[in-house]
Amino acid sequence: MRLLFIGDVFGRPGRTIVRRLLPQLKQELQPAVVVANTENATHGTGMTRSAFEELRAAGVDIFTGGNHTLGKPEILELMQEYSQVLCPGNVSPVIRRHGSVIWQTPDGPLAVINAMGQYCMNGVDNPFRYVEEVLHDPQIEAVCARIVDFHAEATAEKAAMLSFLDGRVSAVLGTHTHVPTADARVTALGTAFITDVGMTGVRSSIIGLDPEVVMRRFQTGIMYAPRVAEGDATLMAVVVDIDASTGSSTSIALLQRDR
Ligand SMILES: [Fe+2]
Ligand SMILES: [Fe+2]
Repeated sequence: MRLLFIGDVFGRPGRTIVRRLLPQLKQELQPAVVVANTENATHGTGMTRSAFEELRAAGVDIFTGGNHTLGKPEILELMQEYSQVLCPGNVSPVIRRHGSVIWQTPDGPLAVINAMGQYCMNGVDNPFRYVEEVLHDPQIEAVCARIVDFHAEATAEKAAMLSFLDGRVSAVLGTHTHVPTADARVTALGTAFITDVGMTGVRSSIIGLDPEVVMRRFQTGIMYAPRVAEGDATLMAVVVDIDASTGSSTSIALLQRDR
């Protein structure tokens, strides 16, 4: 089972490059399933219905979230309508059941679990206990291929999540920092890992935002309204190959494309 996992899609430039490149990437790589973190899909905060429709039409199957997902409350309606729209389940009891999904791919079922780290994040339940609880759900327990989008700030917290889940899930994929890391690997126990997949958005930006506004904020301390950066975008993703019969991953590769 080949998984294409796209890092945080940021604003219109991020959505546009997904729309432009995903069809050809699907032809080329033949993934069984496409997952994208879309916490920043609409103006950098959350995802509206129109952004969801746009990305779904482009070929995204499952939508994971993060600390910005609840920034647009209409996500609650989307999550109720579409089981493939997720939000980290340890953020709030209200959305706990939207933290995971079992998706039927041509190569068998895939369970996707979305959790958020506690470092630098407010009001988040313990992600280790949350993931443990989800893994004991009898339906998820029965699925071999299981991945976790761990949306977290700290590299150590992400590494700890890998240690916690090593050999128990197919992949632990970090999101949120928007900076891809050079540590993609498959452990001896068959879990694919990367600290951060990176961002799908404008590269010459400050993690997706217009540098001018962010610099003004840093220099003056005044919280000017952020603005999505304009310019050429890059799509950042990982390709993970999973043995669907055992749940072990055989490879993970970082992918960056701008054309
Ligand atoms: Fe993000
Ligand atoms: Fe985030």
